[in-house]
Amino acid sequence: MAQINPSILSADFARLAEEAEAVRGADWLHVDVMDNHFVPNLTLGVPVVESLARATDTPLDLHLMIEDPDRWAPQYVEAGAGSVTFHVEAAAAPVRLAREIRAKGARASMALKPGTPIEPYEDLLPELDMVLIMTVEPGFGGQAFLDIMLPKIRRTRELIAKYDLDLWLQVDGGVAASTIERCAEAGADVFVAGSAVYGAEDPAEAVRALRAQAERATAGASWACRH
Ligand code: DX5
Ligand code: ZN
Repeated sequence: MAQINPSILSADFARLAEEAEAVRGADWLHVDVMDNHFVPNLTLGVPVVESLARATDTPLDLHLMIEDPDRWAPQYVEAGAGSVTFHVEAAAAPVRLAREIRAKGARASMALKPGTPIEPYEDLLPELDMVLIMTVEPGFGGQAFLDIMLPKIRRTRELIAKYDLDLWLQVDGGVAASTIERCAEAGADVFVAGSAVYGAEDPAEAVRALRAQAERATAGASWACRH
């Protein structure tokens, strides 16, 4: 089942509760935390996440694009996140961190920048609930989808099948009506979409349309038929 996670990076930050309401029916709200060090942009932190978690019933999918996630990620679980993604490039002890996130009660997820391969992290996969394959360089919404990431999505899906893991595979960056089918066919099942949802006239309808498109593409995908 395809999940669509609108990214509030493309929403109006002065009206976050209303913007969450505007995508009612979305599976998760994707919240991009940037610290101006790991990526050249700055967004929001723990207090905003705490308020947003109180303001919406939609679970929060935190994407931490920050240095020292080992220190900060647990605080985002306490702030009310249902899923916390750290970048493996920034984590000092990814296994310990994933275990801590899970122990505190959230789903643990690892993100890979476009230049980071999945293979060195194969042994970590059983410790995780989700892997995020970035399909743009992290830092900004509205960038063009990197087709060159499709083989990495495919190889990650093969690893999930190899170990028979219950692991979600998320893509983030440039996901839109024109690219979501390629992602689904390659093996993604969780789709972050910022500008494609909040740039639409009816964001909730955009979520439904993207989900339907992804589900059609998944139904015909070889990786999904194997199960
Ligand atoms: C980029 C963020 C994304 C961003 C995606 O670094 O991680 O979540 O909001 O925006 P779009 O869907 O517009 O590429
Ligand atoms: Zn993101």
